[in-house]
Amino acid sequence: MRVLPVLCVMGLLSTAALAAPMTQDSGAPVGDNENSKTAGPDGPVLLEDFHLIEKLARFDRERIPERVVHARGTGAQGVFVSSEDFSRYTKASLFAQPGKETPVFVRFSTVMGYRGSAEAARDPRGFAVKFYTDQGNWDVVGINEPIFFIRDAIKFPDFVHANKPSAITNIQDPNLAFDFFSRTPESTHMLTYLYSDLIGMPASYREMDGFGVHAFRLVNAKGQQIFAKFHWRSVQGLKGMTLEQQHAADPNYATRDLYNNIREAHFPKWDLYVQLLTAEQIAQLPYDGFDDTKTWDNVPEVKFGTMTLNKVPDNYFQYTEQSAFAPGVMVPGIEPSPDKMLQGRLFAYADTQRYRIGTNYQELPVNRPLVKVANNNQDGSMSSAPRVGEVNYEPSTAKQVGAVTPQPSFRLSEYPVSGVAQQTAIAKTDDFSQAGELWRSYSKQDQSNLVKNLASDLDQVRDHGVKARQVSYFYKADRDYGTRLAEATHLDVDEVAALAAKEVSH
Ligand code: HEM
Repeated sequence: MRVLPVLCVMGLLSTAALAAPMTQDSGAPVGDNENSKTAGPDGPVLLEDFHLIEKLARFDRERIPERVVHARGTGAQGVFVSSEDFSRYTKASLFAQPGKETPVFVRFSTVMGYRGSAEAARDPRGFAVKFYTDQGNWDVVGINEPIFFIRDAIKFPDFVHANKPSAITNIQDPNLAFDFFSRTPESTHMLTYLYSDLIGMPASYREMDGFGVHAFRLVNAKGQQIFAKFHWRSVQGLKGMTLEQQHAADPNYATRDLYNNIREAHFPKWDLYVQLLTAEQIAQLPYDGFDDTKTWDNVPEVKFGTMTLNKVPDNYFQYTEQSAFAPGVMVPGIEPSPDKMLQGRLFAYADTQRYRIGTNYQELPVNRPLVKVANNNQDGSMSSAPRVGEVNYEPSTAKQVGAVTPQPSFRLSEYPVSGVAQQTAIAKTDDFSQAGELWRSYSKQDQSNLVKNLASDLDQVRDHGVKARQVSYFYKADRDYGTRLAEATHLDVDEVAALAAKEVSH
């Protein structure tokens, strides 16, 4: 009784009247879809009922592995409109002229929960955008904070293991999360965002910003380069939730809000802003400009365009579940920076998608580029893209249909590199300054709520050493921040202060 009105609001019953004649997957008509074929009225079911066997077998295979992170998500379609000619910075064709339209697919998500988990989790929100440009796809696979917890991809599996549900209980456990974070001082800045109300617990997907987080290399037609960070600013404005509102939230609150707004033609919009710095300017920053735990402070944002989401995808599985975003999916004029997290991500996404969806995942409608794909990659499970001719190699003298040849004007950029191959941490770690600045930028009320939110998880940590060490990081960021957290988590402030003094300042 309760489900029906909700389904109507979501528009899910509207197509029910348009019933089509039922067929098997082979196209043959189905006569009876409610009674299995049996040997006599009381006899066993016959294997010759092919429709029954196929129906059950297809049902058995309905699930693909869920994403190892960001499993719970919501997709939407829309359009990006460029606001100016930005060819002085990048030869990316989507930014070549004002008013140029590029279709997009966006997937919002939470990170650590399983596919059916509650949306109001204390978690970053994924903000992944796929641009279907006229030079191939470009994915900006970001989140709703401008930074991340760690700065080297080699730590990512450990970060995720500590934050996912426990290997024994299958329940998320702050004891494990803070065991990791208390040995990961570079996460202090991100935790200061994550436990805030405004950024850390968005009231809806519409009312949050998005960030590409890493620096990217923009290249113009002359080969000139500049580094860029991408920021999506919500036109709806930002709105967060308190701890009490989080606990009371409907488990599907974010999807309902987004889809109801799109269906009522209240299309959400985000402006794309870009921060730009040359390599020389980055070298002069007091912190490492390619460290993804840092924001580029006091660097102006240039507006590049606006994205509008205006359509709920027709099918959840085919679009949202099978969508595959990857930071390595770029177009000419946009290339990676040396950020060590980004470099690791360039590998991990397509690798997981070949496993999660299958080798030919890029042939699926949600992932397929609008431009024709032409290369000699071939075969594999579920190959269906049309290919002709027998010259499936290059170079070749053949000019016949199907032969492909590279386009030299799209060679990758060149830039100098130097140094010794090594495994060392970055020189300028500076783990605490920006966390302190962020704390001091919050209003009195926001500071109180941040302390309350953090304490609600930190106070569950049983190991005194882990708890004290963790709070000492916040103390290092700002004495007032650490003192108030120590008090809220029943720690001795002097002990926390002494630990903070011992912690090597990087
Ligand atoms: C080296 C660090 C990282 C690794 C190895 C990694 C790995 C992954 C993997 C394997 C997935 C699942 C992809 C799929 O199944 O389609 C994923 C999803 C995702 N990651 Fe990361 N990740 C890393 C860091 C980050 C960072 C720093 C951000 C944000 C800037 C981020 C944002 C996302 C988002 C938004 C998704 C969901 C995409 C979607 O909606 O399908 N990840 N990540």
